Amino acid sequence: MAATIEDIDACVFDAYGTLFDVNAAAAHCRDALGDKADELSALWRNRQLQYTWLRSLMQEYVEFWQVTGDGLDYALAVLGIKDDALRQRLMDIYMRLDAYPEVKDMLTTLKAGGLKTAILSNGSPKMLSSAVKNAGIDDVLDISFSVDAIGIYKPHPSVYQMAVDGLGVEAGRICFMSSNAWDAAAAANFGFRVVWVNRFGQPQERIPGDHEQEIKTLVALPPLLGL
Ligand code: 2OP
Repeated sequence: MAATIEDIDACVFDAYGTLFDVNAAAAHCRDALGDKADELSALWRNRQLQYTWLRSLMQEYVEFWQVTGDGLDYALAVLGIKDDALRQRLMDIYMRLDAYPEVKDMLTTLKAGGLKTAILSNGSPKMLSSAVKNAGIDDVLDISFSVDAIGIYKPHPSVYQMAVDGLGVEAGRICFMSSNAWDAAAAANFGFRVVWVNRFGQPQERIPGDHEQEIKTLVALPPLLGL
């Protein structure tokens, strides 16, 4: 099969929202959250990301586990939910979020095709290793890069530079996947070849950086690479 995206040596993946289902924690607690589950998940994710951007600008970095807990506390407060046991349950699930169903087969195909595979994420090392182990993808993932190594969050360019330095692959030969449109744009602006995994049918962000391809799930990725 002819490749649409050629001259790629490595595939690098965003974690939360791309490989792992950020909405799975609230979904697994729907018994306790009822009709507030979806709103909680959206509020939680939005504040989690907003706090990473604000903390980077404030030069007040703390690891993603802390930011994830802070975002959840904000979301619970908005919805008037005071339940420490439920909070703990949500955080426990977040430590081992479900991978999307196509992820393991897709990574297996990429490895069989001779490509390097990596995660590049805001997630802390303990979060990423837990999620990777829980998803059973440690044998098809070469390495995980966490922003914790440099103390600043996406979309700062030094985050994407970590993958170039860590893999020893130039940016133009790295194919980067993210479901987060702002992350996809920033990675393209940095110099990666970018496939936007538009799982949630969102419009493109109005910020610098144009992805090369848009797909709905990662099932479509290997054929783009000729695999
Ligand atoms: C990640 O870095 C952006 O949360 C997303 O995995």
